[in-house]
Amino acid sequence: MNWGMKNRLSRIIQPDTGRCLMLAVDHGYFQGPTTGLRNLGATVNPLLPYADALMITRGALKGWIPPETGKPIILRVSGGPTVLKELSNELVTTTIEDAIRINASAITCSVYIGAEFEKETIANLAQLVNDGEKYGIPVLSVTAVGRDMARDARFLGLASRVCVEIGAHIIKTYYCEGFEQVVEACGNVPVVIAGGKKLPEKEALEMAAGALSCGAVGVDMGRNIFQSDKPVAMIKAVRALIHEKKSVDEAYEMYLNG
Ligand code: 5RP
Repeated sequence: MNWGMKNRLSRIIQPDTGRCLMLAVDHGYFQGPTTGLRNLGATVNPLLPYADALMITRGALKGWIPPETGKPIILRVSGGPTVLKELSNELVTTTIEDAIRINASAITCSVYIGAEFEKETIANLAQLVNDGEKYGIPVLSVTAVGRDMARDARFLGLASRVCVEIGAHIIKTYYCEGFEQVVEACGNVPVVIAGGKKLPEKEALEMAAGALSCGAVGVDMGRNIFQSDKPVAMIKAVRALIHEKKSVDEAYEMYLNG
């Protein structure tokens, strides 16, 4: 791995703990004005001090996040279909040149294993990895789960491993029973989990703790933070779990008192 790639990765996965808290706010690229992100800046800017990195599209970044932010950007560079269409029919929407201009610390796309446009989304990932390798920009690959697909270790392990084989530098997937098998399938490539739909805060913390105990390096969490009644308290609690190794009960207490 070249110096630039290592340097960018170390801005995201914190060298002192080996872990990371990514805040995902890219939902608008297929969902439109998602609850909590209608005024994205009002929700996200107060959360930034507690995140290690921000996953976002270029449009949202330019519209709502000040360029003075010191936070590493994980730039969502895929899109196309909305929730009204076949989601797997994605294309690469943002050039590597624009990612470089933005000073992205990583670029990201979704890979829809088992879906109608599986091959095209693998080709998108391959293009990103080829561009990323050329310019020293790591690629985070999201294992998207289609509507009727099982979120189990067999499927997520297969989907994650395919992304590893194509060359992704970080895998983002979903927590499931037997999650250690998904982590194992990824070898040395770091794994983070998405939060998924909004859960009660304690359950979201339990999920994150479960993933960490199975070997994930952290989370790339969105709705379970920004749709919380107390987003700042929630991100602080998730951070304590990830970086301070607090227990779920301790982190939940922090959320309640935050
Ligand atoms: C969509 C994404 C989102 O960033 C992802 O779903 C994370 O957000 P959440 O924690 O709300 O699930 O990658 O494909």
